[in-house]
Amino acid sequence: MESQLPVLVLLLSCLILISQSAKAAPNPSPTPIKAVNLGGWLVTEGWITPNLFDEIPVNKDLLDGTQIQLKSVTKNNYLSANNGGGSAILASQSSASGWETFNLWRITETTFQFRVFNWQFLGLDDQDNLVATSTSSSDSDSSHTFEIVRNDDDPNRIRIRAPNGSFLEVKPEGLVTADYSEDTNWGDDDPSIFLLTNVRQLQGEFQVTNGYGPDKAPSAMMNHWNNFIVEDDFKFMSENGLNAVRIPVGWWIRFDQNPPHPFVGGSLQALDNAFSWAEEYNVKVIINLQAAPGSQNVWDHSGTRDGTQSWGKTDDTIKETVVVIDFLTSRYANRSGLYAIELLNEPLAPGVTLDRLEKYYKAGYDTVRKYSDVYVIMSNRLSIRNPTELIQFASGFSGSVIDVHYYNLFSTLFEDMTVQQNIDYVKKYRAYTIKSLTVPNGPLIFIGEWVDEMDVSDASKDDYQRFGVAQLEVYGKATFGWSYWTLKNVEIHWSLEWMIKNEYITL
Ligand SMILES: *[C@@H]1O[C@H](CO)[C@@H](O)[C@H](O)[C@H]1NC(C)=O
Ligand SMILES: *[C@@H]1O[C@H](CO)[C@@H](O)[C@H](O)[C@H]1NC(C)=O
Repeated sequence: MESQLPVLVLLLSCLILISQSAKAAPNPSPTPIKAVNLGGWLVTEGWITPNLFDEIPVNKDLLDGTQIQLKSVTKNNYLSANNGGGSAILASQSSASGWETFNLWRITETTFQFRVFNWQFLGLDDQDNLVATSTSSSDSDSSHTFEIVRNDDDPNRIRIRAPNGSFLEVKPEGLVTADYSEDTNWGDDDPSIFLLTNVRQLQGEFQVTNGYGPDKAPSAMMNHWNNFIVEDDFKFMSENGLNAVRIPVGWWIRFDQNPPHPFVGGSLQALDNAFSWAEEYNVKVIINLQAAPGSQNVWDHSGTRDGTQSWGKTDDTIKETVVVIDFLTSRYANRSGLYAIELLNEPLAPGVTLDRLEKYYKAGYDTVRKYSDVYVIMSNRLSIRNPTELIQFASGFSGSVIDVHYYNLFSTLFEDMTVQQNIDYVKKYRAYTIKSLTVPNGPLIFIGEWVDEMDVSDASKDDYQRFGVAQLEVYGKATFGWSYWTLKNVEIHWSLEWMIKNEYITL
């Protein structure tokens, strides 16, 4: 008896503390949501829907942002931008890495601009030698536009027609000059022949729309929007224990039918449909700005053209993004389905600084509040050491939510983990982090993306079930709730629809 008394006192004082902080909170705690993302729908991600790229008619392996390397057959060396750019291009390197890698801009089906490691564009100097000195360009700038001519039998054997009309050739000393004629035997003795290696491809909205081009893109995208997600999917969600949906959208949605090139109109109509279906099946909608003007990270899903990340670097990109939030909130503020607006998905540090991000989050929050008292979600930056960096800041805004994404992937940390180690990691480390994010009078916490996938090659159905249960248990403690990435995906574990139908996950 005696020894239990201090414990009781402690317990009581804890209870009093908890009830006091709950009273002081501006908004009552909501019931945490169980949501799913509609990834790959209104913002293309080729790894989710590879078939969407199938019908691109010409050079579908050379879309915007594709990284290529070029080896001269006569010199047996790669073209290289010394110091990553700023001077001449030489056929000087026997192996290839960053300085030997070129990022494509696709101008037409067969013409391209090339950006080097430090992002300068290829062009010719006054002696018609190949250089990488220009820091800006545009699609209409023909002085940076080259034609790629591929060999019919071996498409990775190419020639490059320079802006002055002649083909590039490698001189014996390694200089590259635009003075080779039309004639070729495509042989290993022809200094105008290069071997092309495709190192990496981007497969986002810019790539798919520009790949199809202005004639074919509108129907290809419309077909995708109308068929990838349909009314029945909302019925499926409501019948399987899901009560919310997080819908990624791109900044171009605000232009409705007339977005800037190469994006095409129609995604706004699809979002309207989603609202109607969501309301019919009692599913709450979170609009998530997945792709912001200038791109807030380097990946396909930020709408980037070539992997550059320039969101937040200027006030213009922040202002333009606020306009998108204004458009979306004013359009849907009166819809009963609207539950939250997520201001920005996965801003990447250090390119996006905390200072710029907070400036935007304040402006974005105030913009939402002009129309609506729905929750306002602020995404944590990726690649940061301190996951609580926004907690204090967000505490100043009532109805704010911090979004964190948890994947036991994309890091060497998880490479050699067993199934049990993955489960333990979630139960210990993730649970601890969620706890540390959850403070009295602070923002609500949202696990806006997670997946029942791990870096274990021979995991069984039972393993996936156990890993799923562990994650549901831990993420179920998040005060705002969670959202699985994603509803549909050719990668089965990334498809919650598949996981539910095949009884890997039960909600
Ligand atoms: C391109 O420049 C080279 C070197 O100055 C020159 O020999 C060639 O004739 C030029 N090509 C055209 C089509 O003007
Ligand atoms: C939304 O509702 C408010 C208040 O009922 C009304 O004043 C406003 O015009 C509505 N906005 C739209 C876009 O329907």
